[in-house]
Amino acid sequence: MTPASPLVTIRPVAPDDQDTVRAILGGSWGDTQVAGHGTLYDAADLPGYVAEIGEETAGLLTYHVGDDGWEVVTLDAIVVGHGVGTALLRTVEEAAHQAGARRLWLITTNDNTHALRFYQRRGFDLVAVHRGAVTRSRAELKPSIPLEVDGIPLRHELELERLLKP
Ligand SMILES: CC(C)(COP(=O)(O)OP(=O)(O)OC[C@H]1O[C@@H](n2cnc3c(N)ncnc32)[C@H](O)[C@@H]1OP(=O)(O)O)[C@@H](O)C(=O)NCCC(=O)NCCS
Repeated sequence: MTPASPLVTIRPVAPDDQDTVRAILGGSWGDTQVAGHGTLYDAADLPGYVAEIGEETAGLLTYHVGDDGWEVVTLDAIVVGHGVGTALLRTVEEAAHQAGARRLWLITTNDNTHALRFYQRRGFDLVAVHRGAVTRSRAELKPSIPLEVDGIPLRHELELERLLKP
C-alpha cells in the first residue's frame, strides 16, 4: 500500500463542518443523498472523517455502522494523488477494527474503474456484482444519477470488502 503522506491529517467530522461536508458531497455526488444497495442515505447526517493538508480541507469519508460491518458510504479526495484517500481509508479501517467489526465494505459503480483499482490495491476484494442496481436506484431512489459517465452506461453496483476478522 502507498504510504500515507505525513502532510495529511485526519479528524472526525465535527458539527461545525456541515457547510464543508455539504459542499464536498454536492460537488461529487450532486447533493448529499447517496443511493446504494436499495438504500438512500443522507451522507451529511452520517459520521465521517475530514482530511486536511495544512489548513485546507483535502477530503471526506462518510460511513455507516451496520449489523453486517461498517460501510464506507462516500470517499472523496479534493486533493488527489497525495495520500488523502489512503489516509481516510486507513483511519476508518482502524476504527472499525477497534470496534470489533467483521468487515469494512463499500459499493462502487461499474463506470468507476479508478475506484476499483484504488480499493483493490488497498486490500479490498470484489465480493458481488449487483447487476442493474444503479438502474433501479435511478428509477426508485435518485432520478438525478447520470445515465453514463465517460461514455460508460452507469448500471451496476460492485461490492468490495476488506475482512477485519478471520
Ligand atoms: C478514489 C479516490 C478517493 C482516491 O483518492 P486519492 O487521495 O487520490 O488517493 P491516494 O492519493 O491515497 O492514492 C492514489 C494514488 O496517489 C499516489 N499517492 C498516494 N500517496 C502519495 C503520496 N504521499 N505522495 C505522492 N503520491 C501519492 C499513488 O500513486 C496512488 O496510486 P496507487 O494506487 O498506484 O498507489 C479519489 O480519486 C476520488 O476522490 N475519486 C472520486 C470519488 C470516488 O470515485 N470515490 C470512490 C467511490 S466509492
